[in-house]
Amino acid sequence: MKAKPGGYNVAIVGATGAVGRTMLDILASREFPVGSLRLLASSRSAGSVVETAWGDVTIEDLAIADPAGIDIALFSAGAERSRAFAPAFADTGAVVIDNSSAFRSDPTIPLVVAGVNNHAALSHDGIIANPNCTTMVALMGVAPLARTAGLRRMTATSYQSVSGSGMAAMDELADQVAWFQKDRDALIFGGWEEPEVTIYARPIGWNVIPFAGDMAEDGYTNEELKLVNESRKILDLPDLAVEPTCVRVPVMVGHGIAASCYFDRPLGVEEAIEAIQGSPGVQVWADRVATPLDSAGIDDVLVSRIRPTLSEPGGISLWAVGDNLRKGAALNTIEIAEILIAH
Ligand code: A2P
Repeated sequence: MKAKPGGYNVAIVGATGAVGRTMLDILASREFPVGSLRLLASSRSAGSVVETAWGDVTIEDLAIADPAGIDIALFSAGAERSRAFAPAFADTGAVVIDNSSAFRSDPTIPLVVAGVNNHAALSHDGIIANPNCTTMVALMGVAPLARTAGLRRMTATSYQSVSGSGMAAMDELADQVAWFQKDRDALIFGGWEEPEVTIYARPIGWNVIPFAGDMAEDGYTNEELKLVNESRKILDLPDLAVEPTCVRVPVMVGHGIAASCYFDRPLGVEEAIEAIQGSPGVQVWADRVATPLDSAGIDDVLVSRIRPTLSEPGGISLWAVGDNLRKGAALNTIEIAEILIAH
């Protein structure tokens, strides 16, 4: 991307959402060279004013905004909005980095995890896709092992926080925890009353829902199929075997993934630790247990519980946990923008 001495014209689409707000924080904290900033959301938020590191910015209505002049557009307003608006932004010369699922499976659009397949970002045609938050966190731990020993098969179970479903889901978790708190005995001994449920299939307060996303095919959810298809695309391993299960847990921020990985050759724990330690954006916690709370608000993905597989020797089991709003979404989009402006 051409250097711009005065900084780039950056837009955040979905600026009022959980990811959009995190993007704004990260642009400022990483001192991204922003020349001018535009914030866009729905007509509900249009007209409200947001204080930013670049002065007060009035939210614009995406539906009627003119994208002319934007260099980099960070989209996080849902797949429907991306499909409807991202091509028009790209047509005016902006590079769109899209956090939704709209373009991830399009073979002509790069799908990039910064630190894993940076080179892919450089061959775009105006749109670059940011992977699903679960895939992102999992691959930060698994990709270094794949590079070292050739990944053949992975069984992965996610423990996904509610912030991955947006602001309304975080409110629902807090409301339902408060609701159940009124009669804790009923949770223990039975007789609890169903709280209002709007986001998920079942209550998420004090509960675990072994169903994330929507039902897709063969009994798998679309969230599970994303983990399969996006891992194959990012690692450039079209035949990779992945057994996915995606679970929603009552955690505000931080997605955890328990994975067992099998390779083209046996891989030992020491070599696995070395490979992960040598990779950017990821920390090995060899003697500490990394939890979602540890990962929330930080950039690095944390990998712990690295151990040899038992049923089929030579593989590695591990636990990776990362802030789904940061590395899982906003941080990675900005890292992609950093790759673009460095070239
Ligand atoms: P708004 O706040 O105006 O509804 P989250 O997933 O965290 O709830 O965030 C969703 C983001 O996508 C918000 O910024 C939201 O804006 C934006 N959004 C949702 N629907 C639309 C729409 N129809 N047009 C533009 N932005 C939208």
